Amino acid sequence: MEKKERFIVKGRQMKKLNLPKDQCDAIFNQKYCDIDYEFMGFLDVYESLSKIVPKYWSIVDLGCAYAPQCFYFEKHKEYVGVDVSGCLKFKAGNTKHFRMPIEKFIKEHSSEFNMDETFAICSYVGDQSMKIVRQTFKNVFTYYPHGMSLGESKKIGIMIKKIKKIKDKNAK
Ligand SMILES: C[S@@+](CC[C@H](N)C(=O)[O-])C[C@H]1O[C@@H](n2cnc3c(N)ncnc32)[C@H](O)[C@@H]1O
Repeated sequence: MEKKERFIVKGRQMKKLNLPKDQCDAIFNQKYCDIDYEFMGFLDVYESLSKIVPKYWSIVDLGCAYAPQCFYFEKHKEYVGVDVSGCLKFKAGNTKHFRMPIEKFIKEHSSEFNMDETFAICSYVGDQSMKIVRQTFKNVFTYYPHGMSLGESKKIGIMIKKIKKIKDKNAK
């Protein structure tokens, strides 16, 4: 197999994430893209979970967005990304993407997973989705921050400002 050019993205959250350069170029340069080398989503959550969930389990990431986090789960059985958006997404060797609402995915595909060996993640997505994800999967992490410490909310504020800046730049 052709060995793709890879590099380590610097930054606090991203220390161990190796991303193929060709995918970065294509994804970061697509229209309206709001991630870049400095901010790729809330990846520290994924990094931590990738160390806990056994490698022979399936990962179902509901609301995966651009899915750079799929590379934290390269050695797992499979990484399944679900998102309603049609943006170009990162893909590792074991990645499958479903472009559809979380609710539809659960209705049509959740029965295909062995619930004893599947870990569902729904992070920074929203209350309604979190509820249905928790009702469906046995092993699950859902998270939507509220009532953070000053330090944490400052960090999120900086990220949001960064996203807005990139969006404004793309809109010009
Ligand atoms: C803020 S991003 C979070 C991305 C990633 N989970 C993270 O933590 O970095 C939220 C993503 O959820 C997706 N999303 C929100 N509600 C959804 C739904 N009901 N069905 C599918 N995707 C949804 C959006 O399209 C967006 O890409």
